[in-house]
Amino acid sequence: MRLLRAATSRGATVASAVASRRGPADTAYADILAPGVEVVRDGSILIDRDWMPAGVTSQFIEDAKTYHERYFDRLDFTELVDYCLGLAAIDRTQSLRVLDIGSGSGASVLAACRLLPRAHILASDISPQLLRMLAAFVDTRDDLRGRITAFCFDLHRRFFRPESFDVVIGAAILHHLLDPRAALANVAASLRPGGKIILVEPLESGSLVLVAMFARVLGALAEVGDGDGRIAQLMKAMRLDIQSRLGPPVEKPWTRQLDDKWVFDRPYLAQLAADLGLSKVEVHPAQSDLSNVYENAFMGLLADSGLSHVQVPQRVIDSVRMFDRGIAEDLKGELCPTGVIVFTR
Ligand SMILES: C[S@@+](CC[C@H](N)C(=O)[O-])C[C@H]1O[C@@H](n2cnc3c(N)ncnc32)[C@H](O)[C@@H]1O
Repeated sequence: MRLLRAATSRGATVASAVASRRGPADTAYADILAPGVEVVRDGSILIDRDWMPAGVTSQFIEDAKTYHERYFDRLDFTELVDYCLGLAAIDRTQSLRVLDIGSGSGASVLAACRLLPRAHILASDISPQLLRMLAAFVDTRDDLRGRITAFCFDLHRRFFRPESFDVVIGAAILHHLLDPRAALANVAASLRPGGKIILVEPLESGSLVLVAMFARVLGALAEVGDGDGRIAQLMKAMRLDIQSRLGPPVEKPWTRQLDDKWVFDRPYLAQLAADLGLSKVEVHPAQSDLSNVYENAFMGLLADSGLSHVQVPQRVIDSVRMFDRGIAEDLKGELCPTGVIVFTR
């Protein structure tokens, strides 16, 4: 029944999006669109005439409003994007053409806009709903209007002409894609030689530390009791979630149903760079101060799951801190749950 309801509502979503793509092609950006690609104006966004919401879960399409309300005000990516631009040695004084991939309702786009004052930013996403929210926000702001253009398309499709961009930014996108290699090949082709692709993504090694830490938390909860059991339930779910996402690019029977589909490791990323003709890949921890990286991951998870108000037993806090205390700072750089990945073309 739940599946049937989901299928029906997706059918309605697709039908209304198809209807909105019957108008004439918008040619304003024809110089950067790949041959055969046509876009149609849909309010303030441009949408691929061949758009289909393949491989993306309902949280970004039918439930986009809930996703936006849950995250938009909480997410200020200025510090993160600032750190990423520094790692990639981007010259902020240049008038760059920047492509942001998997923009959603725009946290990384707005940060890039602030930090690259002369750049024009192309926001992109498969979700028309999220991009419309971004465009509506941009329309209310004099400092943003005219600096951001939003394109709705699937990254698995070759959408832009070669060498259209100086920089590509993607904050939490690659691990949502069914075929990260195919999508990255498209992105890499649209980058000029010497250009950078900057991605923020979950890493396997650090995620496995979290699996071990969540097991330790379960042990501590079993000793001291867990109130209504919600922390234990979350720990079990997160362990299973990470275990289900290991080993890209091998698709499992459940991969298509997952929202977060993968965690990445360095050998996979190095192989991707080699396969796609990218000259270099660097993997950095996603934060410069790693002193409380595991405690922050644990607390962030509680907050994302609506459990920030739950009283966490001291024994649990101690178990989490054991990981922060016990793992040396330089090793934490290798074992960080989230990484900034910088590819150079
Ligand atoms: C975690 S959100 C990214 C958040 C965003 N970068 C921000 O700064 O707020 C992941 C995004 O990837 C998009 N996405 C998923 N599959 C996609 C695809 N095949 N092509 C393009 N975007 C996709 C989703 O619609 C969603 O908005």
